[in-house]
Amino acid sequence: MTTSQQPDTPRPLIQLRDLSKEFAGGTRAVDRVTLDIAPGGVFGIVGHSGAGKSTLLRLINLLETPTSGTVTVNGQELTALGSRQLRAARRDIGMIFQQFNLFRSRTVLGNVAYPLRQAGTPRAQARDRAHEALRFVGLADQARRYPEQLSGGQRQRVGIARALATQPPVLLCDEATSALDPQTTGEVLALLRRVNDELGVTIVLITHEMEVVRALCDRMAVLDAGRIVETGPVREVFAAPQHPTTRAFVRSAVQASPLLDLLPAALRKHGVDEAVAASVLAEVSA
Ligand SMILES: Nc1ncnc2c1ncn2[C@@H]1O[C@H](COP(=O)(O)OP(=O)(O)OP(=O)(O)O)[C@@H](O)[C@H]1O
Ligand SMILES: [Mg+2]
Repeated sequence: MTTSQQPDTPRPLIQLRDLSKEFAGGTRAVDRVTLDIAPGGVFGIVGHSGAGKSTLLRLINLLETPTSGTVTVNGQELTALGSRQLRAARRDIGMIFQQFNLFRSRTVLGNVAYPLRQAGTPRAQARDRAHEALRFVGLADQARRYPEQLSGGQRQRVGIARALATQPPVLLCDEATSALDPQTTGEVLALLRRVNDELGVTIVLITHEMEVVRALCDRMAVLDAGRIVETGPVREVFAAPQHPTTRAFVRSAVQASPLLDLLPAALRKHGVDEAVAASVLAEVSA
C-alpha cells in the first residue's frame, strides 16, 4: 500500500493546523495559519511590525495559548497535553530572543546550566554540558563572567548556548539579530548556520529583514495581518514573489544589496550608454 507522502519527503517536524490567536480586545494576531516545517532546514518567517510574527513563534512552543487550531512538534500534539507534559515537551524546543533574556544575577555558566537544572540534570553533569555548549559558541573563556560584562553579540551567543543546552531538535529565534550591528549580526548568523549544519538542529526564525532570510534560510513564509500569504524555497520566492507584501520585502532586500551600489560603475566601465544605464538601474531598483 502506498502512503500519501512521497518517500523522500520526511514527516514535518512542526505542523500547524488552522492556528489562530485572538487577544482580549479582539486583535486576531494569528489568523488560521496552516504550515508544515520539515526537519533539518532553516525556515524563515518575515512580516512587517505587528504582522503577528512573535505571536506565531510563541504559539509553536505554546508560550501563547491558541484560540483554536493545533500545534504538533516532533509527532507530539502539544495542544493536547496537560501542563506537566507540556513543560517536558518544551525542553525539545529551544528559543532565543531579541533582547537575549539572560539572568543578570547568574554567571554565563549559570545561565546556560539553568534549563538543565530545571530539567533535573545533576549539578556536575549540568556544568559539563553547559561548558560544552559554551565551547560550541566560542565563549569557553567567559563562563565565570556576568551578562552585563559581555557585548551584545556575546550575550546572544550565551542565549544560543542556553537554548541548546538541553539538546533540542528545534530552535526558535525571535528577531535574534535585530538588536545587533551588521558585523555582529553576521557572526550570530554564521553561528546559527553551524547550529543547523553541525548539530542538525532545525531552525525557525522570524525577522523583518529579508537580508537575514537570504543569508540563512532554505524556505520561507510571508506573514501579513496574521495570515501566511506566501511560502516556498527562498530562491524561488526571491526570483518570483507573488504577493504584493512579498514583492515589497524582496525589493527592500535588493535595494539594500551592495551589488546595486557597484552597478553604475560597472556599467560605465563597460561603456554602456548613459541612457541605457539609467534605464537598467531604474529597472533593477524598481
Ligand atoms: N499580549 C497581547 N495582548 C494584546 N494584543 C497583543 C499581545 N501581543 C501582541 N498583540 C497584538 O497582536 C498583533 C501581533 O503582534 P506581534 O507581536 O505578534 O507582531 P510582530 O510581527 O512580532 O511585530 P514586531 O515586528 O513589531 O515584533 C499586534 O497587533 C499586537 O499589538
Ligand atoms: Mg515581534
